[in-house]
Amino acid sequence: MKIFITGGSGLAGSRLAEMALARGDEVFSGYAHNRPACGRGVRLDLLDPDGIRDTIERTRPDAIVHSAALTDVDRCEREKDLAFKINVEGTRAVAEGARAAGSFLVYVSTDYVFDGRRGLYREGDQTGPVSYYGLSKLLGEELSLDQGCVARTCVIYGRRPASGKVNFALWILNSLGSGKEISVVTDQFITPTLNSNLAAMLLEAADRQLSGIYHLSGASRVSRYDFACQLADTFELDSRLILPSRMSDLDWLAERPKDSSLDTSKARQMLKNGPLPLNDSLQLLKKEIIEG
Ligand SMILES: NC(=O)c1ccc[n+]([C@@H]2O[C@H](COP(=O)([O-])OP(=O)(O)OC[C@H]3O[C@@H](n4cnc5c(N)ncnc54)[C@H](OP(=O)(O)O)[C@@H]3O)[C@@H](O)[C@H]2O)c1
Repeated sequence: MKIFITGGSGLAGSRLAEMALARGDEVFSGYAHNRPACGRGVRLDLLDPDGIRDTIERTRPDAIVHSAALTDVDRCEREKDLAFKINVEGTRAVAEGARAAGSFLVYVSTDYVFDGRRGLYREGDQTGPVSYYGLSKLLGEELSLDQGCVARTCVIYGRRPASGKVNFALWILNSLGSGKEISVVTDQFITPTLNSNLAAMLLEAADRQLSGIYHLSGASRVSRYDFACQLADTFELDSRLILPSRMSDLDWLAERPKDSSLDTSKARQMLKNGPLPLNDSLQLLKKEIIEG
């Protein structure tokens, strides 16, 4: 398959590019600032709609996985115009390019489309973003659905930094590994997602041209604090360094959902490579880190 990954330098896209290449796909890795390590790097700026349409027309991929976004939640709140241009107008151009080139589109979306008052959300549940980031991603979903499917995920982690950033799990492992105390919230609930597991699910969605919305996250709901403690146990690190805190202790600009965990039963039923339980994902992460 010829696959175009927007956000090929990001946490989700970089692992996807690596796995698609390993199975023999022809891979184009789109990026804005950080050249991707895997696939043919193609500069594709979501702020340049004409450039996006031209690039897709030129490469004519079978599938596009659109994972690029302005993912900094507080920056989206502060710079709403920029967030709209990148996450909404950029997505519109990707969807138009996909339509013109006959490419199947997988749009990577977020648990932040929900308000987080209930948790374990199913695909058909009422959305209600509490941040501009969540709203911009929801608008992106609406622009993408006709051309393929929407894959909502939640708190992605993986074995390497990506797009110049360390992910939540690596931050915990690095901190505990160097004996540093960290505070982690006990009252925010998530379904954390290993990027390898996400990449396998995204590839299957692209291969099978699934339509509709799918919750492609890890299969286990945990608080961020319990996630950190399970990481410590898996990697035999000192969990006493993890100090419990509350969401209200944090100085966030944008509001965060309290419980944006996703119900993954649809994906578990439909996919061969479905959402993994947390323990399996952490064992896989450990293996990946050991193997380099
Ligand atoms: N991370 C999470 O916990 C999480 C949770 C739920 C949903 N999601 C969704 O999952 C997707 C992937 O997230 P991620 O964590 O892998 O992202 P990430 O690591 O923050 O990477 C963002 C990617 O988007 C690219 N990008 C940013 N601005 C761009 C622009 N103007 N033009 C073109 N590309 C641009 C970046 O390219 P450069 O590196 O070149 O700047 C990078 O490849 C996103 O759509 C996000 O909304 C993420």
